[in-house]
Amino acid sequence: MNTSSANEEKIDIFSKEVLISREEIYSRVEQLGHEISADYQGRELHLVGVLNGAFMFLADLVRHLSIPCHICFMHASSYKDQRVSSGEVILMHNLDLSGKDVLVVEDIFDTGLTLKHISEDLQLQKPNSLEICALLNKKIPDKVQVEVKYIGFEIEDRFVVGYGLDYAEKYRELPHITCLD
Ligand code: IMP
Repeated sequence: MNTSSANEEKIDIFSKEVLISREEIYSRVEQLGHEISADYQGRELHLVGVLNGAFMFLADLVRHLSIPCHICFMHASSYKDQRVSSGEVILMHNLDLSGKDVLVVEDIFDTGLTLKHISEDLQLQKPNSLEICALLNKKIPDKVQVEVKYIGFEIEDRFVVGYGLDYAEKYRELPHITCLD
């Protein structure tokens, strides 16, 4: 048995550095909600949350929208319990976004590989418009070119968990964002 596997790794999560507090998240998500509502005034917005990581962000974001919206989800995976991307992105959804104004809501824009795949995949459905909102933008060199219109916070190249983000499916429930490294 491999005793150093991600699932068995013992981490004292409350001894780790809090990078973004719940109060900072609340106020930034509120600002984003106002900005998005102003940009889509008079239109109906189709929000596509990227599971699993964006579930908390999307749930909070929609509470600050003052425009009519539809909420749906797609599933994307690439990390497979590791701290570095596997490089392979698997998407699953049953969406029909033809002619719609679509905003993809993602937890983190890291390499950009996942968002590029999502963007290319959803463009095939010929939406009226397609934009991306990511809670976090990780500052790393050589990101994949993809335009992310709304960004919550810029962060350094560190592995973060909480507020939906996981490590081996753990720590998503934390109300703040913590650095694991
Ligand atoms: P990308 O394809 O490299 O941009 O990675 C996007 C996905 O990787 C995100 O949707 C996250 O699920 C995951 N990810 C990237 N960085 C982190 C991190 O620091 N913590 C947790 N998950 C991350």
